[in-house]
Amino acid sequence: SDRYCVFGHPIGHSRSPQIHAAFAEQTGQALTYEAIEAPLDDFAGAWHRFIASGGRGANVTVPFKEEACRLSDVLSPRARRAGAVNTLVLGNNGETCGDTTDGIGLVRDLQYQAAPLEKARILVLGAGGAVRGILEPLLGARPATLMIANRTAEKARRLAREFFDLGETTGGGFDEVVGTFDLVINGTSASLGGEIPPLPDDLFADDALAYDMMYGDEPTAFLAWSGEHGARTADGLGMLVEQAAESFFLWRNVRPDTAAVRKRLRPER
Ligand code: ATR
Repeated sequence: SDRYCVFGHPIGHSRSPQIHAAFAEQTGQALTYEAIEAPLDDFAGAWHRFIASGGRGANVTVPFKEEACRLSDVLSPRARRAGAVNTLVLGNNGETCGDTTDGIGLVRDLQYQAAPLEKARILVLGAGGAVRGILEPLLGARPATLMIANRTAEKARRLAREFFDLGETTGGGFDEVVGTFDLVINGTSASLGGEIPPLPDDLFADDALAYDMMYGDEPTAFLAWSGEHGARTADGLGMLVEQAAESFFLWRNVRPDTAAVRKRLRPER
């Protein structure tokens, strides 16, 4: 059967093998999917060894997404704009094709969560690689405004200018956040250290959704804070499932049913 994998470093806690095994079972596709810890200094070698041993495609996670973008022979337009690749596909002539399904995965999950998108006021926290990857599909959902706020304000301003052609986008520091928002997405890595960006208490509009791109067994510090300040909350596990489904489709041309897999990963409490 065809081999697939996810490359990361570290990779031990990845839930992708479980998700893709469920997709394969559900759709009757004969494939295997494993987690591979690539060496930090030789991602390209890990990918080439993998295809030499029957690999057909891979997901790529932290910290290799930019490197996967550089090693791709062919890039999808959305991967080029994101500057990152989370899905590698071995082409018919042995070429490496790079794409990204992170952004569409986020938007699919937001739709599943019935998040306000069209005409909504959206605040995105962070201006790193993760945020760059979601801006095009978010702006494609036609929000009223999208503000990017970041610890380093200049990075947010630069990113906003870069995406302004796709919709009303502004950037600044956390101290420049004013007004209320219908959707606040945390794309900083502050959650990893249990920290929360310094934000005004009255950030959330009525029926606002607070979304953290991270996930874990416990709610992140950002989601706990958001819940205390009146927002509905969602973590990034749904995004993980949806981006996986899009990658699976790129490889196999079959669309898995994500709702069934969501339930399996996190039965209703
Ligand atoms: P990623 O690929 O996860 O986006 P990255 O490109 O290194 O990783 O970006 C990390 C993001 O988290 C940045 O926006 C960073 O802010 P700076 O640009 O000012 O560095 C943000 N970040 C990291 N730790 C943070 C913290 N403790 N508080 C607020 N923002 C933080």
